[in-house]
Amino acid sequence: MVMPFRILLGVLNMQDQKNKKSFTSEGINEDWFIYATEHSDSIPEILLELEKETHQKILQPRMMSGRLQGRFLSLLSNLVQAKTIVEIGTYTGYSTLSLAEGLTDNGKIHTIDCNEELISIQERFFKKSKFSHKIKRHLGKAIEVISSIDGPYDLVFIDADKENYDLYFEAVVPKMKKGGLIISDNVMWSGKVLSEVNNAIDKKTLALKKFNKKLMMDYRVQTTLLPLRDGLTLSRVL
Ligand SMILES: C[S@@+](CC[C@H](N)C(=O)[O-])C[C@H]1O[C@@H](n2cnc3c(N)ncnc32)[C@H](O)[C@@H]1O
Repeated sequence: MVMPFRILLGVLNMQDQKNKKSFTSEGINEDWFIYATEHSDSIPEILLELEKETHQKILQPRMMSGRLQGRFLSLLSNLVQAKTIVEIGTYTGYSTLSLAEGLTDNGKIHTIDCNEELISIQERFFKKSKFSHKIKRHLGKAIEVISSIDGPYDLVFIDADKENYDLYFEAVVPKMKKGGLIISDNVMWSGKVLSEVNNAIDKKTLALKKFNKKLMMDYRVQTTLLPLRDGLTLSRVL
């Protein structure tokens, strides 16, 4: 008998509970996550330092991309051989430095954040990295800053306020190079997007549910939603 996927997942969860397995804050089996991280590229020293300082000194450290996703962002940026990257949501700069690893020699990453309290940690780590000349930091509301950054963009990373993901997507699509990549983070929103009762969910979850559905049907992009960490959607611009 073939067991439906949802039931199978339920059974696996019960087995995990019996075996007292632990889970990350996004509900991922911690052992799988650790195994995957240990069998991926090693983490650059500067990112280990930034991770430590973000945990010690900055509010809400779980906003940071983290080890496995950081390696994946670096891999994608290298694959795209990006000349121009736009990042929406810098936070402490972990994903900025990961994405910068794949920039071409004359490439540039424009990273946008509206929180001025984060500037000092961003600047310190950007300066310390070997990519400082390739990073342009922008302070301000993302939608206003995007309009001032010339295209074409090879890669865009959307990782700021969830209610505005669609606004950002629409603002960058016309500026994307054909074959360019738009990456959207936190699209599973700790699993809240699985809720089927729309009137019982918050605005962010509702916005992400609409965004995920739209991308799936959007003829301008080829899209795959990966259940990596908190959900990461890759959309290749056609
Ligand atoms: C999830 S964090 C980004 C994490 C970062 N990309 C990383 O992986 O380490 C989201 C960031 O978006 C910023 N943000 C939220 N709304 C924004 C807006 N309207 N314009 C610009 N930045 C915004 C926040 O200040 C916060 O630092």
